[in-house]
Amino acid sequence: SSNQMQHSRGESAEDTAKTLSCYVDAIVARVYEHDFIEELAKHSTIPVINGLSNSYHPCQTLADLMTIKEHKKKFKDLKIAWIGDGNNVCNSLIFGCSKTQTEIVIATPKGFEPNSDVVKKASKYTSVDLTTDPEFAVRDADVVMTDTFVSIHDSDAKSKKFLPTFQVNESLMNKAKDNVIFMHCLPAKRGYEVTNSVIDGPQSVVWDEAEKKGINIVDATCPLVTEIHEEVRKLSAENRRIIIIGDHGHDEVNGIMEQVQDPIVVANPEEAKRLRKMKKAGVVSQSTQMIENVQDRTSGSAGMPRPISYAVF
Ligand code: NVA
Repeated sequence: SSNQMQHSRGESAEDTAKTLSCYVDAIVARVYEHDFIEELAKHSTIPVINGLSNSYHPCQTLADLMTIKEHKKKFKDLKIAWIGDGNNVCNSLIFGCSKTQTEIVIATPKGFEPNSDVVKKASKYTSVDLTTDPEFAVRDADVVMTDTFVSIHDSDAKSKKFLPTFQVNESLMNKAKDNVIFMHCLPAKRGYEVTNSVIDGPQSVVWDEAEKKGINIVDATCPLVTEIHEEVRKLSAENRRIIIIGDHGHDEVNGIMEQVQDPIVVANPEEAKRLRKMKKAGVVSQSTQMIENVQDRTSGSAGMPRPISYAVF
């Protein structure tokens, strides 16, 4: 966690990366600043996986593509409408769409567009349109997606700039295709970016989507998921120790953790409680060791626990 890592005392990402490369076999970093992951990756001699940054969330995109494949059986000739903030999840989704050649239309308020470099790069491979009109975006859409207006790294003030126009509600869903599905990476702020009737309604596939975030579900259509999964299993089979620091409440991390034998886990009291339950249920290895009482987390603005500044395997 941030208060247990030398980075919090001013150590450079480079030195942290080099040090961790001596201790562990892979790093999953869930961070605020994307540059920190880039620096870690540049200076590590071990694999570095982005578990979320303020700019990207590739693990979420993998889960989302798996969910779309599950429900629509294809990627091409589909249209995704993204409504709301052009945030980390949106940036990665655009890249995902470029890989699968899925059309995407992104409706955001002015000033909340996704990263323009991402749009430019992805546009070489698929159709990426930006608009400020959610109704235009959902027209003929096969998938409607949104996310919290206030991401974990955002200030609450940002949410005030969002307008109810960008809420996914029944009226908006009715303007999409009849067989449209609704997706949300969670956590959802019900009543803000999405209404109860949509997220709990028949078009919602959010729980299928949530399930995919546990990377233990391996799907041959998503080679990267398979790779991560197999890499962790291999390391584990070789009896190499993997240390997991922080934010275990997130499915991506839990999914990986379930593949690991005898991990050492640094946990705050809330996580420790959760881990004890997982151990009891046999979900994680009985010999999981815990370093407890990490107290540095505060409540995040998006209503979920704020992650420590970085998480490491
Ligand atoms: N965009 C949100 C949700 C990610 C799962 C965030 O970064 O907090």
